[in-house]
Amino acid sequence: MTERSSTLILFGATGDLAGRMLFPSLYNLQEDGLLPDDFLVVASGRSHRDDGGFRQEVDDCLRNFIGEDRYNADSARRLTERIIYCAVEAGNSEQFAALAERVRGREDKGIAVYLSTPPSLFAPTAVSLAGAGLVNGTTRIAMEKPIGHDLASSIEVNDAIGALFDEERIFRVDHYLGKETVQNLIALRFGNMLFEPLWNANHIDHVQITVGETVGLEGRVSYYDGVGALRDMVQNHMLQILSIIAMEPPARFDSTAVRDEKVKVLRSLRPMDGEQAKTFSVRGQYSAGAVNGEIVRGYADELGKPSDTETFVALKAHIDNWRWSGVPFYLRTGKRMPTRHSEILIQFKPVAHSIFRRSRFSSGLEPNTLIIRLQPQENIRLLVMAKEPGLDRGGVKLREVGLDVSLTAAFEGQRRRIAYERLLLDLLEGDPTLFVRRDEVEAQWQWIDSIIAGWQEAGMKVASYAAGNWGPSSAIALIERDGASWYE
Ligand code: BG6
Repeated sequence: MTERSSTLILFGATGDLAGRMLFPSLYNLQEDGLLPDDFLVVASGRSHRDDGGFRQEVDDCLRNFIGEDRYNADSARRLTERIIYCAVEAGNSEQFAALAERVRGREDKGIAVYLSTPPSLFAPTAVSLAGAGLVNGTTRIAMEKPIGHDLASSIEVNDAIGALFDEERIFRVDHYLGKETVQNLIALRFGNMLFEPLWNANHIDHVQITVGETVGLEGRVSYYDGVGALRDMVQNHMLQILSIIAMEPPARFDSTAVRDEKVKVLRSLRPMDGEQAKTFSVRGQYSAGAVNGEIVRGYADELGKPSDTETFVALKAHIDNWRWSGVPFYLRTGKRMPTRHSEILIQFKPVAHSIFRRSRFSSGLEPNTLIIRLQPQENIRLLVMAKEPGLDRGGVKLREVGLDVSLTAAFEGQRRRIAYERLLLDLLEGDPTLFVRRDEVEAQWQWIDSIIAGWQEAGMKVASYAAGNWGPSSAIALIERDGASWYE
């Protein structure tokens, strides 16, 4: 077991993520007795506040975001008393010296740094920390996505941080890996005998991954415009899901074995050129429409000007290796979709030979389908053929029925944790298994860059879709051309 960090220095502490996710996660960890006894959070942001004022703000966030049933004023006070606030600007050595002063005497008890700031501040912040003597051989650093906006810029960030920290001390956050449901994919594949023998091109026809969101861009347009769905969702969350679905069995559940297998998948993704991008990808942007019965504005209207940023993307990806040769992976994600849900569909091939006669009574066999719903409710559904009750005078009548496992119900009574609880605890305890390694993030960008270059080469503009729909009609054509359809 590595040393626990008993100090967390959090940059971006006044930001949205800290308020909604990070402090509530720390609260929950504290309530479960999982934080070190002498734990201290040094919260830091650019604006000035005193400790008391900031503690009050954190208390407000806890009240708002952890839910009434869990909020307890005494517990909240116990957490906020462990938080001090220090205003710093990256590059301001005096302010960093003052911050180091507040950590004085605790350096040997392990420091974890969390960068929840714009990526442009990652390197300058790390350099300032080192200048203030806060980076030693035991300091860990966590970084939120995005790591760069393409391969070249991600290499720059990785080089700058890598100059100060060893790779095993760098924790690149992809919050999807903190989700119980995503980790459960590993349990499903490698904790059961049932699926693995069939998990390959011999038995699987295609795979679908859908991450749909009903939200638009309210308040986030300045970050999102020019970034788009491909960089915001596919480059990280969706490729992590894909790599877990497609990886070879790791020898053990540890950071090296798991990440070695994931990176092999990411490196096997077939790059796209202009011609392929035109055929195998769809870019969309929502216009005005209705979501959940509510009239919403279009993206350009929210932004206040026309834009070519995609709020929806659909892709047909190929993994060029032995296991997945010829199996398409269809990915789609978008804002202002009809429902918020994340789902994986594994479409098996038809049986080799049907013994059941097709007749006017019986429609024949449907190939098996495995549907793994990640959110909002966690649910695994296997569609199998069953005989309809009856005397079968016209031949056996078959129907597709679902074998359903609701994991939410199976583990009823167990609190569903915030993804960041797991990630913060792993950071403090030094386990990088559920964080993204440098070679993974760079392989992800390499593939994404090929698509963006393909879009540019082909001059692909966004196609409009009315909010409340599953993207432009070309997204439907993308899969239906192959004789399949999106699962809805
Ligand atoms: C973030 C993206 O990484 O993930 C957001 O930047 C997106 O645009 C969010 O809304 C989705 O996360 P979740 O956990 O709500 O599925």
